[in-house]
Amino acid sequence: MTKRDCVSVLDIEAELKKILDDAINLKAGWARGEREKPLAGKSMAMIFEKPSTRTRVSFEVGMAQLGGYALNLARADIQLGRGETITDTARVLSRYVDIIMYRAFDHNMVSDLAKNATIPVINGLDNLEHPCQTLADLMTILEHKKGFEGKKLAYIGDGNNVCNSLLLGAAVVGMDMSAICPEEYKPDEKIYKKALEIASTNNCKIDLTSVPEKGVENADIIYTDTWISMGDDADAEARNKAFQPYQVNTELVSAAKDDYIFMHCLPAHRNSEVTDEVMDGENSVIFDQAENRLHAQKALILFLLEAK
Ligand code: CP
Ligand code: NVA
Repeated sequence: MTKRDCVSVLDIEAELKKILDDAINLKAGWARGEREKPLAGKSMAMIFEKPSTRTRVSFEVGMAQLGGYALNLARADIQLGRGETITDTARVLSRYVDIIMYRAFDHNMVSDLAKNATIPVINGLDNLEHPCQTLADLMTILEHKKGFEGKKLAYIGDGNNVCNSLLLGAAVVGMDMSAICPEEYKPDEKIYKKALEIASTNNCKIDLTSVPEKGVENADIIYTDTWISMGDDADAEARNKAFQPYQVNTELVSAAKDDYIFMHCLPAHRNSEVTDEVMDGENSVIFDQAENRLHAQKALILFLLEAK
């Protein structure tokens, strides 16, 4: 049996909906007091090249809740930070632990780790994708909107890792999505094309615009993310300028449906990409989203370890 990874949303394309159902069941089971430990004796290595609150805590707590163990490895503290290759790191970690989660700057590093590890590798965010975020986001949409068909997600802001993974995720589950990004900060071209291709077989519509009011029209979900992702700091001034017209505020959301939900992967730069009023308003589901990282990733880990 070949091992499975989740470096991209595409790696779990066929099983995405099942993993979401499992996540919803795990969440309900946990709330009912179910405490099975299917991962007793199993370990996860978590490698971080960048800071994290949600990813770090949700993976660590998720492993503990399932009876397993998670080790936190900051890149600077392991030999990878002193030049040991990613290939050798993959081979060594495969001898100790059962699964690896990696948050990296470079998507190729995550792919190389997955290629050379004999155990599953999960992408905990890189420059190109954030698949675990998309899993939690889709789960949150399912909870609040009861389904994907005929629903429209308007993602506004930077065409970054979060946007790329959402494009793929929306296409896979059959949800419409408009990416609303300035010309110079559009999503990855290859990913956008792939999303269009998947959408054409899944009866949904994906499009790209640079006009906020147009993209948000009739949206069921409004989603934004920071204008300055980790690693983009050098470009901060230009970005803050380019994204000003893309702020999610009360005026912009008035073009969406009355029962729209507001989403953000967090951390947010309050009153930059979104105003306090929208973030803390009654349509905001941002903390459900954050919580769902835990449940969605538990389902993903169980799927990859075939523990379910
Ligand atoms: N959304 C997200 O991945 O948050 P962290 O950077 O805190 O992990
Ligand atoms: N796009 C953001 C997401 C943080 C969770 C970043 O890469 O910094």
